[in-house]
Amino acid sequence: MNRYKKDFPILNREVKGRPIIYFDNGATSQRPLQVMKAVEEYDTKYNGNPHRAAHVLSIDSTREYEESKEAVAKFIGAKSSDEIVYTKNGSEALNLVARSYGENFLKEGDKIVITIAEHHSNIVPWQRVCQKTGAKLEYIYIDRETGEYLEEDFKKIDEDTKIVAFNHVSNVLGTVSPVEKFMKLAKEVGAVTVIDGAQAVPHIPVDVTKLDCDFYTFSGHKMLSAMGIGVLYAKSELLEKMEPFLLGGDMIEYVEEQTTTFASGATKFEAGTQNVEGAVSLKAAVDYLNDVGFDYIEEHNGEMMEYLVEEIKKVPHINIVGTKDPSKRQGVITFTVDDVHPHDVATILDSYGIAIRSGHHCAQPLGKYLGIPASNRVSPYFYNDLEEAKYFIEKLKTVRGVMGFGS
Ligand SMILES: Cc1ncc(COP(=O)(O)O)c(C=O)c1O
Repeated sequence: MNRYKKDFPILNREVKGRPIIYFDNGATSQRPLQVMKAVEEYDTKYNGNPHRAAHVLSIDSTREYEESKEAVAKFIGAKSSDEIVYTKNGSEALNLVARSYGENFLKEGDKIVITIAEHHSNIVPWQRVCQKTGAKLEYIYIDRETGEYLEEDFKKIDEDTKIVAFNHVSNVLGTVSPVEKFMKLAKEVGAVTVIDGAQAVPHIPVDVTKLDCDFYTFSGHKMLSAMGIGVLYAKSELLEKMEPFLLGGDMIEYVEEQTTTFASGATKFEAGTQNVEGAVSLKAAVDYLNDVGFDYIEEHNGEMMEYLVEEIKKVPHINIVGTKDPSKRQGVITFTVDDVHPHDVATILDSYGIAIRSGHHCAQPLGKYLGIPASNRVSPYFYNDLEEAKYFIEKLKTVRGVMGFGS
């Protein structure tokens, strides 16, 4: 059995008479006891409104919140915790950049370049920026077989481009974007870079200072933390220039009857009482991931991808979406089953206690481009094991039979 499984009580939950096989980690990961206990300790010892009062519980709560940001800053290689803004999730972090940067600094004639492999959270906010400013949204497309970006489309990053926004790892294709290439091209034309790291941070080490990106976003709940906390990394000089996202308590310096001056740094973007339990949960998740180590996580991912991709390829009538090279995949394998709706595939697998995703994966433009409006996605994490993968393959082979097809 996988050595980390014992830390995740939910994986003992019996579904259809056996412990659940949870292969939907791309949607949200599960939480280890260490993370739950950290939140319990906060709730039983330290809960108070941070940054607000002189009493011990407010001071404790402030410390827990700030220590969380320091741990997260270190985890992703940020220079200071002042470059870390906590949000509700990855989507809110991207919205913050679109609203506070995009809507204020773009104008008609400018361009935003994104890729066709983006999650809706890295598409829709940019559409809004374009509607409000008159800027244009352009896409870098992919090769339908390999999932790699089309070389000629990189020319779209030109002198008019003011923002280049792209995923670090695609939630549908599982491929890692050529970040250095995007960074080089964006820098040559002076465009600001936004990286959606929601599917990368749980799987690979990320160093935002080395990447030298302007913004980097991700969600706590895909990396063992509770839901309700997300992260925006932003270079300090950009945070200083940007308009606040939400207005109210904590994010101010002085408030007069008619006017207000704002706090500086990350605080300017954190209006109102923050999700301290989420911050505590995220710090415990970071500590846990640091203990596991990315050497193990990457090696384990390699083994799971190799097994699953090679075995899925052998099953007749199953089609993998994107690259068939397992070494190019991080965390997710998306596929379709001939003549069977993805919802039926997921329901049949659920009847065996196997949880996978079905649907458009919040990437409808990619689905339309590929001619695959819906598909299935299997996304293991480091606490899954090959036994589970074998059972999944065994049951996947039965799907067409259950639906009444001969093979
Ligand atoms: C690539 C990618 N970006 C952004 C998001 C949005 O994350 P959240 O739902 O936590 O806001 C997701 C979630 O599935 C994702 O996979």
